[in-house]
Amino acid sequence: MDLLLVEKSLIAVFVAVVLATVVSKLRGKKLKLPPSPIPIPIFGNWLQVGDDLNHRKLVDYAKKFGDLFLFKMGQRNIVVVSSPDLTKEVLHTQGVEFGSRHRNMVYDIFTGKGQDMVFTVYGEHWRKMRRIMTVPFFTNKVVQQNHEGWEFEAASVVEDVKKNPDAATKGIVVRKRLQLMVYNNMFGIMFGKRFESEDDPLFLRLKFLNGERGRLTQSFEYNYGDFIPILRPFLRGYLKICQDVKDRRFALFKKYFVDDRKQVATPKPTGVGGLKCAIDHILEAQNKGEINEDNVLYIVENINVAAIETTLTSMEWGIAELVNHPDIQSKLRNEIDTVLGLGVQVTEPELHRLPYLQAVIKETIRRRMAVPLLVPHMNLKDAKLAGYDIPEESRILINAWWLANNPDSWNSPEEFRPERFLEEEAHVEANGNDFRYVPFGAGRRSCPGIILALPILGITIGRLVQNFELLPPPGQSKIDTSEKRGQFSLQILNQSTIVMKPRAF
Ligand code: HEM
Repeated sequence: MDLLLVEKSLIAVFVAVVLATVVSKLRGKKLKLPPSPIPIPIFGNWLQVGDDLNHRKLVDYAKKFGDLFLFKMGQRNIVVVSSPDLTKEVLHTQGVEFGSRHRNMVYDIFTGKGQDMVFTVYGEHWRKMRRIMTVPFFTNKVVQQNHEGWEFEAASVVEDVKKNPDAATKGIVVRKRLQLMVYNNMFGIMFGKRFESEDDPLFLRLKFLNGERGRLTQSFEYNYGDFIPILRPFLRGYLKICQDVKDRRFALFKKYFVDDRKQVATPKPTGVGGLKCAIDHILEAQNKGEINEDNVLYIVENINVAAIETTLTSMEWGIAELVNHPDIQSKLRNEIDTVLGLGVQVTEPELHRLPYLQAVIKETIRRRMAVPLLVPHMNLKDAKLAGYDIPEESRILINAWWLANNPDSWNSPEEFRPERFLEEEAHVEANGNDFRYVPFGAGRRSCPGIILALPILGITIGRLVQNFELLPPPGQSKIDTSEKRGQFSLQILNQSTIVMKPRAF
């Protein structure tokens, strides 16, 4: 393209944007919008607030503008909620009105414009997908069928770490081995499949493509096209890469997992241990004509995204906190030794006898919430909140991290103190029974995977602490817990190297 043409295109874009803004202003209704920094034409507040709307930065804005405020980011309205009462209003009282999901053109590619469950609008399709996914994934029966598999996987981690001479001396990045374990936990439930090692070629391809999906959706790079629709043509290259990753991922899911399972399951649908696995139920729904083949693949996509990194990240944070709080680590080890007996391994049925272990997990996801702003909600139609107008299709961010870390409603929230969940906060559960603590959301769009995530976290953290002393690497007194930001998740910036000294029983 010659320079003159580029110049002409930019001028044309600018004129079109100004015209679109003026027309929309003339047509606009008089709304009483939530407080907001003063927006400037075209860009709104985008240049003032920047791309990274992380949970900590949003706390600073909440202190200035209140528990409900609005950012105009180009043409998009982003509404931020920072109090338990308003959270209850959005997730519960007006759960239907605010029960849709916000997507953008990148998510449209990865979810086929909402053919999945996680990112679809609230309505018939969501209800059907949630119903179809419940029996195979989100019931106590699934926990009963799979917990021995999770215990086996955790035991394999313990064995592998013990075999690694670096673990007890200079330390290892245990996250890598735990990642294999979480994939095995989830692919066990879904397909009755397990990957043998971190070098398994299929595991490596899957991990790579899931990583690319994460990187492309989490990036701030495409914000300009999301906020200012007229600039979307400039995103063509980015969207092409997204489409390519999506196609490769889906081809992999289909060839190596779904089609492979169809062959194993024919003629008798029995999986590992003679039991049906999740995909058998999902394929039955497809055979009955309730969903199509694409929906099946979008279910596999959703589990890959919603289940794996969230659980793994929470484990990683839990381990980091225990390394940095050796007194809490020994207290936990002591509980396990005393309740179960020295060397008797933690299992799912015993978790209810280990209240301190459960408190450590609750405290980890309070301080280090894997999804600190929940998955953005959206109102399909104009709505009202706290007397303000919320324009249709606003992106609603609930600052769940702040609700659980606000000193006005928690004692010394900056302290990592599991005891709070056995003392003054003993009634608080992770399932949303208290709107100050909603790490899995609450109401209609809350996380159905909580029923799997909590026992998997309990078994894994419990087994690591009972089998090893977890320490910072030589020369360090603590490990670095700086946070890495993204559009959605809260990850640890530097994957920690940890010394893991086996205990002698
Ligand atoms: C520690 C681990 C996990 C955390 C912290 C977590 C957190 C969340 C959060 C915050 C939401 C959004 C709630 C909202 O927007 O109101 C969510 C949604 C969801 N999660 Fe999880 N999750 C975890 C594990 C899992 C697992 C293991 C699965 C599946 C096996 C899963 C499946 C889902 C699904 C399907 C949704 C979408 C629900 C909907 O839109 O209706 N999650 N999760």
